[in-house]
Amino acid sequence: MAEVRRAAEILRAGGLVAFPTETVYGLGADASNAAAVARLYAAKRRPADHPVIVHFSSPEAAFSWAREIPEAARKLAGEFWPGPLTLVLKRSAKAKDFVTGGQDSVGLRVPSHPVARELLRAFGGGVAAPSANLFGRVSATTAAHVKEELHVDLVLDGGASEVGIESTIVDLSGREVMLLRPGGISKAELEKILKIKDKQSGSPRHSGGLERHYAPRTPALLVPPHALDAAIAKRAATVAVLAFSRPDERVDYWIRMPREPRAYAQKLYAALRELDGAHCGAILVESPPDTAEWDAIRDRLSRAAG
Ligand code: TXA
Ligand code: MG
Repeated sequence: MAEVRRAAEILRAGGLVAFPTETVYGLGADASNAAAVARLYAAKRRPADHPVIVHFSSPEAAFSWAREIPEAARKLAGEFWPGPLTLVLKRSAKAKDFVTGGQDSVGLRVPSHPVARELLRAFGGGVAAPSANLFGRVSATTAAHVKEELHVDLVLDGGASEVGIESTIVDLSGREVMLLRPGGISKAELEKILKIKDKQSGSPRHSGGLERHYAPRTPALLVPPHALDAAIAKRAATVAVLAFSRPDERVDYWIRMPREPRAYAQKLYAALRELDGAHCGAILVESPPDTAEWDAIRDRLSRAAG
């Protein structure tokens, strides 16, 4: 694809390219170029001390940015790369402070989206890519959503992201293997390979760990299923609703969500953006079930609700 070649050239010249991945769209820059990464942070309006994930076309290339590769990392990579998994490992000299936020570890990922893979192959090096949205906002899952929010040299269009929420982040840089962010791969899937602890407070800084993140501009409120009707009755004219049940005729803006977590994740960010666009007083979000398969979605919804 000629556009992908052009994208690789832009990256080589220190420019910014937004590209599709299977999780969400990424805003990419040459991870070895300090000025390019600085431009990336500025475009996102993201604080400079936050680490960014570096993307590669192969596990070997990714691992060359780590100085220690525990057996567990090889096993996870073997099972889930290319795919929606980010591994945090002790960094090698290739991972400079401007991508690690000054930490001694680096986040590495080999995405599976064909356009992302083609771009990473054409570019050859590591591509630093946070989600392609303004800092703190809902991630973009289509090229159109990226363009609404960011002004970059090029946006590659690879259709709607299949997973719909960000990668799962596993930290293997410490003594214990830790789940830093639930995501595209469930904890149950990971635990078929090895035991993983849930993140504790005091673990490394990461922006997905901020309280209010992945947030629409309209205040979002999580409402348990049994309380939804009463919540609507109280302020029907002024709310938008994201729920499992059929639309209620008192509400003008209602999106009905799938009861299956993968299908739900795929629709989530586009739905939040659409309801945000209705400029209501609040978005009422019916809470999903309290089971493990909904972990990543509950995580994003509770952050959206601040
Ligand atoms: O699915 C994804 O992971 C997407 C696509 C584009 O790959 N990227 C993404 O990037 O979500 P971002 O920057 O929006 O979120 C990455 C998270 C942040 O919370 C960041 O702080 C954390 O990963 N992170 C990166 N490197 C880290 C490190 N060395 N230690 C701890 N957390 C790290
Ligand atoms: Mg993000």
